[in-house]
Amino acid sequence: MEKIKIAVFVSGSGTNLQALIDASKSGIIKHGELSLVISSNPEAYAINRAELAGIPVCVVAKKSCKDQAEFECKLIKELSRHDIGLIVLAGFMSILSADFTSKYPGRIINVHPSLIPSFCGKGYYGLKVHEDALKYGVKVTGATVHFVNEIPDGGQIIAQKAIKIRECDTPETLQHRVMENAEWVILPKAAEKVAKELLRETDKTNTPEKEKS
Ligand code: GAR
Repeated sequence: MEKIKIAVFVSGSGTNLQALIDASKSGIIKHGELSLVISSNPEAYAINRAELAGIPVCVVAKKSCKDQAEFECKLIKELSRHDIGLIVLAGFMSILSADFTSKYPGRIINVHPSLIPSFCGKGYYGLKVHEDALKYGVKVTGATVHFVNEIPDGGQIIAQKAIKIRECDTPETLQHRVMENAEWVILPKAAEKVAKELLRETDKTNTPEKEKS
């Protein structure tokens, strides 16, 4: 079966990458193939996870680039070298420019640890999201998978899952519950949904007019 080649962008521990690897093994992801992992951090544990799963991995460190344009140029080179059709941002801690996102319309998705439009946008990542959710006193939080455009966390929503906040929650307990019960569940399903849809679109464009009718 034809599959969309997926690149996963990571920067940290890579538990969402692991969820994608596990979902590929279990058949939840059928229309996509994990073909490349790009880490913006040479120390990321996610690199070990990719290597263990036998996925080609490369480090594109932002620090070693003179500016955003050089960083993105390196990313694009790797993506075209591996013929990537779908990019999944899974704990990727760099914001991508409009220049980059406009090159892959409808082909970049991101997982965010809150119910967008709450606690999202520039500066909202990792534990800070959960700290602010608790400070604000919201009773429900969760995770969102969305398309990525030029606005940080501003693209169309693909999937969301809500998680109830407990009185005893700390940012750390809440982060773990959101990951385990929301992010690791909705991210693989959303990746499969988008990969399937992209394949369908490719089929439509490749089918001669006569056969379409
Ligand atoms: C995840 O909670 C992810 O949603 C979040 O960082 C964590 C990465 O964990 N991403 C953001 O906050 C992006 N705005 P992981 O490396 O174990 O997948």
